Amino acid sequence: MNRTASTRPVTERLLPDAHGLARAACLLAEGGLVAFPTETVYGLGADGRNAAAVAALYAAKGRPSFNPLIAHVASLGGAEREGRLGPEAARLAAAFWPGPLTLVVPRAETGTVCDLARAGLDTIGLRIPAHPVARNLLALCGFPVVAPSANLSGRISPTRAEDVLGDLDGAIAAVVMGGATAIGVESTIVACLDGPPRLLRPGGVTREDIERRLGRPLEGAGEAADRPLAPGGLLSHYAPRARVRLDVAEILPGEALLTFAAFRPAGHSQARQVLDLSPDGDLAEAAANLFGYLRRLDASGAETIAVAPIPGRGLGEAINDRLRRAAAER
Ligand code: TXA
Ligand code: MG
Repeated sequence: MNRTASTRPVTERLLPDAHGLARAACLLAEGGLVAFPTETVYGLGADGRNAAAVAALYAAKGRPSFNPLIAHVASLGGAEREGRLGPEAARLAAAFWPGPLTLVVPRAETGTVCDLARAGLDTIGLRIPAHPVARNLLALCGFPVVAPSANLSGRISPTRAEDVLGDLDGAIAAVVMGGATAIGVESTIVACLDGPPRLLRPGGVTREDIERRLGRPLEGAGEAADRPLAPGGLLSHYAPRARVRLDVAEILPGEALLTFAAFRPAGHSQARQVLDLSPDGDLAEAAANLFGYLRRLDASGAETIAVAPIPGRGLGEAINDRLRRAAAER
């Protein structure tokens, strides 16, 4: 074997083809950590049944271990083995799986995901992702793959394989190089436990679409977005190196500008760099660009990223949630 003096392990770059996915499934089954694309963001996967692999996952991310992980499965049968889907959870699953929705439900007796991955809770977060690479990988694995976003804890979530490598190269076994993710913000998390369904985190499925499907309003979030309802709802998150200033009407000297729908605040011509999330005012395009643009403005060297107002409807709820966390006191 051709080893260098460094003992830092090499992170394999895998193609999203049959050979690459077979290798990824094999590494996961052996307890390795493998990053892979989903339609929301890249996830850092581990075998959810394997507590040692899950411990290594928390360590690689630098994640507080009280924060439970989402278990990704290939099929409804796989989900039902891990969690008990009541009528409302089942309705949401039928409407939005595969897709960017995570359901928090009571753990099933037959569940295989280890205590550590659930942070000791008797509930479990479940998702069937829609991205074909993720689906094929999960089908090959046949076991639940727990996967947080594949970034260091607290930092910007990755929407490209290169972003994953920027944070985790040498710290994980492999990354499946699957191109940019389409949705760009994480899944919506809805808890279906006792009582009415609650929105724990806004995300890729809009509140409006979920409420239409349920035929009633969702409890929680909005006002609860800064309370750790989902244990991972820590306020400071998605943080670039630069400070973030929200709802700006005016650009101060040296600031970079993140704007929307061609809005130009006063003083914009002196901004270090200007990026428009969607010049046409399309919130889906804005969500897809959000994390990548935050990274680019951070790399501009500006001390502060000034963010123009973004509407709160539809995907705007998730966008504003992520921006509030990026701007929070650290
Ligand atoms: O789009 C996504 O959801 C991505 C991709 C990779 O699937 N994953 C993701 O994972 O965003 P992560 O770990 O960054 O966020 C998972 C969130 C955390 O806030 C965690 O607290 C919450 O899900 N969560 C997981 N299981 C839970 C449970 N049993 N009860 C409450 N919250 C839970
Ligand atoms: Mg995350």
